[in-house]
Amino acid sequence: MLGKAKNTLLTQTGKGTPMGETLRRYWHPIAAADQLARDPVRPVRILGEDLVLYKDLRGVYGLVDKHCPHRRADLSYGFVEECGLRCNYHGWQFDETGACVSQPYEDVARPEARFREKVKITAYPVEERGGLLWAYLGPSPAPQCPDWEAFNWTNGFRQIVFSHVPCNWVQAQENSIDPVHFEWMHANWSTRLKGALGPYAPSHLKVHFEEFEFGFVYKRITQAQGEDHPMWTIGRVCLWPNGFYLGDHFEWRVPIDDENMLSVVWAYNRVPVEREPYEQSVIPSWESPIKDPQTGRWISSHIINQDIIAWVGQGAIADRTKEHLGASDRGISMIRKQLFDDVEAVQRGEDPKGLIRDPARSKNVVLPNGSLKLGKGLTLQNMKDDPLLSRSLKDFIFNYGQPPEVRRAFEEAMGLS
Ligand code: FES
Ligand SMILES: [Fe+2]
Repeated sequence: MLGKAKNTLLTQTGKGTPMGETLRRYWHPIAAADQLARDPVRPVRILGEDLVLYKDLRGVYGLVDKHCPHRRADLSYGFVEECGLRCNYHGWQFDETGACVSQPYEDVARPEARFREKVKITAYPVEERGGLLWAYLGPSPAPQCPDWEAFNWTNGFRQIVFSHVPCNWVQAQENSIDPVHFEWMHANWSTRLKGALGPYAPSHLKVHFEEFEFGFVYKRITQAQGEDHPMWTIGRVCLWPNGFYLGDHFEWRVPIDDENMLSVVWAYNRVPVEREPYEQSVIPSWESPIKDPQTGRWISSHIINQDIIAWVGQGAIADRTKEHLGASDRGISMIRKQLFDDVEAVQRGEDPKGLIRDPARSKNVVLPNGSLKLGKGLTLQNMKDDPLLSRSLKDFIFNYGQPPEVRRAFEEAMGLS
């Protein structure tokens, strides 16, 4: 349980709020490079700020205020030039640093006034990693944007999935350190959704939580998995501050504002050995719907859709004054405490947990990986014979609604078509 004031502190995301300022010390994935390749100008909202993300004709990314500083037109209707983004109203143009590089009429009528040197737009840095575009909304100097090891794996089919989820990001992140829900929400509920009454999944017997440099790990022992199982020896990663890493995929819970978040999934399927070497030129991205328009109910058929049902079910902002934490929730208390510690660190002028300042350290950052069979690889037949991998061959298991063109590309990569 948390008091009301602490719950507010925990869940605020806006500029100037203690947690909002803390979150602004980290890089956040806000879009896919593939989206900008399709359409170079895109409105985005992150941490309560309305912004426009663009890729100019040189290929440089920029992230600027949504409103033009001239007379406040919406720059998401602007158009890209060789250098930067131009407002569609009177043609003022801004580069990725926020400098005004053109004011067509002012530049002709009153060049001596050098008016454009007096105008600037809010601009934030953008970096590309793993086909995702990452934004940093905090003070300079920005820390390094981590290059996680999985982003450099070869011979894999990768895809990025976004969902707009109408709830606060913290309740989703609490799901990253919640081993027991897997047994009920995914295993047993899925059995019931299929109409079967059982058998139920092996029960959890013991869970354990540990801190490490880039977050926390949870570990589990179930009736079916003993102390030699990777879920106990390695575990799964609650990646700091708003990620989840499960070996074959990442999830991030990016705050849009206090009551909305962007679920970002980055997934990797290694191709069968007989398909190697495999090169994927573009990482496709797609948006996964979460609500059934016919019934108005949340979609429950896929793993992350099930998680989303838990998150939104807790309310737009979970009321933690009314909860009852048990032994299964120790990890949740740990991450809340860490977030509060991070707020205090930022207020003291220090870095919060897990930032990387050294450029060399930020390259190919290795994370504990308890679930991926990388090794020497598997044949397609090996994959078909493995219960979990064979499910992944039939459908994208994490999110509902994979578009047919992404499915086709996947089948071709895996040698299924
Ligand atoms: S409002 Fe943007 S140029 Fe005038
Ligand atoms: Fe889950």
